[in-house]
Amino acid sequence: MLLLVVLTIFIVLIAVFYFYISEKYKYFEKRGIVSPKYEFFFGHMRDTFFKRRHVSCIFEDMYQKYKNKEQVIGFFDITTPYLLIIDPELIKQVLIKDFKHFRNNEFSLLSDKKKDPVMALNPFVMRNEEWKQKRIEVATGMTQNKLRSMFPLVHDVSKRFVEYLNREIEKNAKRVFDARDISVKYTCDTVASCIFAIDGGSFTKKESEIINMGNKMIRSISDAAKSFFSKRLMPQDVQDFFVFLMEEAIKYRENNNISRDDFLAHIINLRRKKNMSDVELVAHGVTFFLDGFDTSSVALAPIFYELGRNPEPQQKLRQQLLAEFPNDDDINYDKLLEHPYLDQVVYESLRIHPPICFANRECSEEILLDTNKGKIFIEQGTKLFVPLLSIQHDNGFYHDPMNFIPERFDHGIKEYSDKGILIPFSQGPRMCLGMRFALLQLKCAIFEIVRNFEISVDTDKTPEHLEIDPSEFLMNGKKDTMWLKFKSVKT
Ligand code: HEM
Repeated sequence: MLLLVVLTIFIVLIAVFYFYISEKYKYFEKRGIVSPKYEFFFGHMRDTFFKRRHVSCIFEDMYQKYKNKEQVIGFFDITTPYLLIIDPELIKQVLIKDFKHFRNNEFSLLSDKKKDPVMALNPFVMRNEEWKQKRIEVATGMTQNKLRSMFPLVHDVSKRFVEYLNREIEKNAKRVFDARDISVKYTCDTVASCIFAIDGGSFTKKESEIINMGNKMIRSISDAAKSFFSKRLMPQDVQDFFVFLMEEAIKYRENNNISRDDFLAHIINLRRKKNMSDVELVAHGVTFFLDGFDTSSVALAPIFYELGRNPEPQQKLRQQLLAEFPNDDDINYDKLLEHPYLDQVVYESLRIHPPICFANRECSEEILLDTNKGKIFIEQGTKLFVPLLSIQHDNGFYHDPMNFIPERFDHGIKEYSDKGILIPFSQGPRMCLGMRFALLQLKCAIFEIVRNFEISVDTDKTPEHLEIDPSEFLMNGKKDTMWLKFKSVKT
């Protein structure tokens, strides 16, 4: 009898659970929004849940199936409904025109001010008015003038990069280099120099403490993002390490009366003007460090890879750079950033390999979105994604989209970004804050390396098609899959 009662309760519970979930899955049907077939319980994200496929692949499948037919698709992550906006005009409406309604993203849910005082002050995870204020504070530290004064620091690191490769090649001419590893070394040292005013030592030391701490921070953020429970994003020892670096950098600058118009000077100024706490101060440094180190390295590795696979554009770039800038010091910030073909090379790689494959938003004020299927009511709290990568890979916008052809931008890049089809840094008031600094880092590295070396891909160790690591948030290639050879052009 007891067994029968238990069994009945169990069956009723399952039936209620089934009914409850089935009702949730009617979300899009009730709103007349197209949604691909879902799997019970997993929705559309089973393969990302088990880390078998990167989220970019799931978005790409949906994009390919519905492009030119729909502008908005619905999908479920487990049972949470999301919208995927796949039309460039509608994307502009969400990210730019109706920004007021979509000013926040979901990442703020990851941070907790008490547990993570430093990470909670990164604009990426802030909301509403607090976000706006912090964004202005960070942005005024990255004006063109400040970047101009950071140029010699970044340029110095790119020269150290060349020296490192020369040293390694001298030791062993057959040496091959992991594109991920050398890119991390470079971006780590550029940010260490620009924010903390130190030499990160990535090209000279066997092990760089700052890279280790950076990697630990990224692992911890990634674990917290995957966890069901609220976790600290930045471990205490990593926070202590960066607090120490920041304090030392400020002390050194003040004690030695060094005056330079850069990001560190901006932070010191902010402290004076706004009576900023030490935590706020360090948060500025860490915001800059985290993105400048990680996102930029994920962008840089595939540029080397594409140049290595495509000798013609590589040769063309080298010829132009050597003819226009025979000596290292013929270059400056403005000439570097405005060099047309270098710009085309960098953007063509960012088009094929954007380090962040989507923009995420949460609706903060309800709105009616105009679509080709009529008006869609978006209620407050609705979450949505913009598939940056799929837009940039669309063969309707780009001929032969997976091939590296910088010449496709011969008539200008602006036309493509204005159309909303070249958006590696996203668009609108919440687009990447570090775009100019990132372009400075990438272009300076390519400038020095291409002038000094012929790059080729080690085809024995590198697969024909790059595979993205499904366990990572960024579009990082799988470990040990991108191997490069460098041959000095001066020998
Ligand atoms: C090639 C390298 C980089 C790429 C492709 C990139 C791309 C992006 C993208 C797609 C977003 C999301 C924008 C959105 O939600 O609409 C973003 C946000 C952001 N990026 Fe970058 N990024 C790069 C490097 C950097 C660097 C070097 C920094 C800082 C020095 C930086 C700082 C930020 C910040 C603070 C945000 C949050 C902006 C906000 O929510 O207001 N990024 N980035």
